[in-house]
Amino acid sequence: MQNNIKTIQSLRGMKDITANESELFIYFIENASKIAKNYGFSYIETPLLEETALFKRSVGESSDIVNKEMYQFIDKGQNDVCLRPEGTAGVVRHFVEKKLDRAGGTYKWYYFGPMFRYERPQKGRLREFHQFGCEVFGIENVYEDANIIMLIREILDFFEIGFTLKLNSLGCSDCMPKYKENLVKNISNFKEKLCEDCNKRLVTNPIRVLDCKVEACQNLLKDSPKITDSLCNSCYSDFTKLKEILDFNGISYEVDSNLVRGLDYYNKTAFEFVSNEIGSQSAIAGGGRYDRLVEFLGGKSTAGIGFAIGIERLLELVKMKKQKDDFVYIGVLDEISLNKAFLIANKKRKTTKTYLEYTPRGFGKHFGIAQKLGCNIVALIGENELNSNTIYTKNLETKEEKNINTGDF
Ligand code: HAM
Repeated sequence: MQNNIKTIQSLRGMKDITANESELFIYFIENASKIAKNYGFSYIETPLLEETALFKRSVGESSDIVNKEMYQFIDKGQNDVCLRPEGTAGVVRHFVEKKLDRAGGTYKWYYFGPMFRYERPQKGRLREFHQFGCEVFGIENVYEDANIIMLIREILDFFEIGFTLKLNSLGCSDCMPKYKENLVKNISNFKEKLCEDCNKRLVTNPIRVLDCKVEACQNLLKDSPKITDSLCNSCYSDFTKLKEILDFNGISYEVDSNLVRGLDYYNKTAFEFVSNEIGSQSAIAGGGRYDRLVEFLGGKSTAGIGFAIGIERLLELVKMKKQKDDFVYIGVLDEISLNKAFLIANKKRKTTKTYLEYTPRGFGKHFGIAQKLGCNIVALIGENELNSNTIYTKNLETKEEKNINTGDF
């Protein structure tokens, strides 16, 4: 009978991870986690919902994320809350809340989960998407910047994903303000010709004009001063050292002095891994140093660095490198064989994914069901097999058929 009740769709820009996609998703999480653990990271989970002020103070009021893209609302207790648009802020909030800034020492944590940004959905850009991220606290040494980049490279290599690494240094509280002043002065000659957004950015955070996507702005800004030419001694020497370490380890990169990142908390190293195979939303991972962020959130000054990979974008590129696991189908040709088949199936499940069909059928029907289920091995038992204590098997990929002793199955 037809039902007139309107069906409900998922929200725009939000999608289910279907039963077909989930295997790849879990495969990614498992292997990325394993690599992160080898690099000394432990798993951490923070809430999806946080106080809105957390993101205003970290991601920054001048960012598009805070300005336009927050899933923000007042909850029933009149608290101004927000679905997390990214993972770093919550992790830093946790670090400060647990007073680890006062305890000192180093901390390395990884996380994964959904993030929410009210963006205009398109290929590779969702309103709910998933990130896999890592954050490090308490290490100022630039070798750690290189280590983080190596870790991402290791994950991308594992999944055989090609990439271009874009690298920049955003300076520090010493050299960045001077650079900004210089940039604004330089732009003042032609600022009327820049787009409306750029004119707003000039007031809120001038370096944001550098990654404006409007072509006319890009042309006008071509000859404007570069941060990489304005670094103080300490930032310059760290940036030079970082490039040296990457060279030494065979990691190629492009210095992109317009790479400012979409979040306000970065200083010194900033980077993005991009792919030219997934269309315009080409950034598969991004991150950098955020040595002032712990202070911005009320903690004691502590160095920080991290990154996040966009899982949906990455999975577009992951070819199932993993060998497919066996999936065994067990069926019976007659009712009396079911007891034995039931026993064998339960034994087989200890090592292998196994499906048992309870209804007795002929060979052809069993093969049909097995194929639909995606099984690659079919094992059937009938009266003959019962009497000889064997089981008939067919590998649906190689087409090889054999009767084997049940003990060897
Ligand atoms: P982000 O560059 O904003 O950095 O995001 C990291 C990655 O998440 C991007 O490179 C992209 O692959 C993915 N991503 C971002 N927005 C979307 C979207 N709307 N749809 C699909 N994928 C998306 C951060 O979030 C920082 N918290 C990274 C970080 C960690 N920096 C230091 N620690």
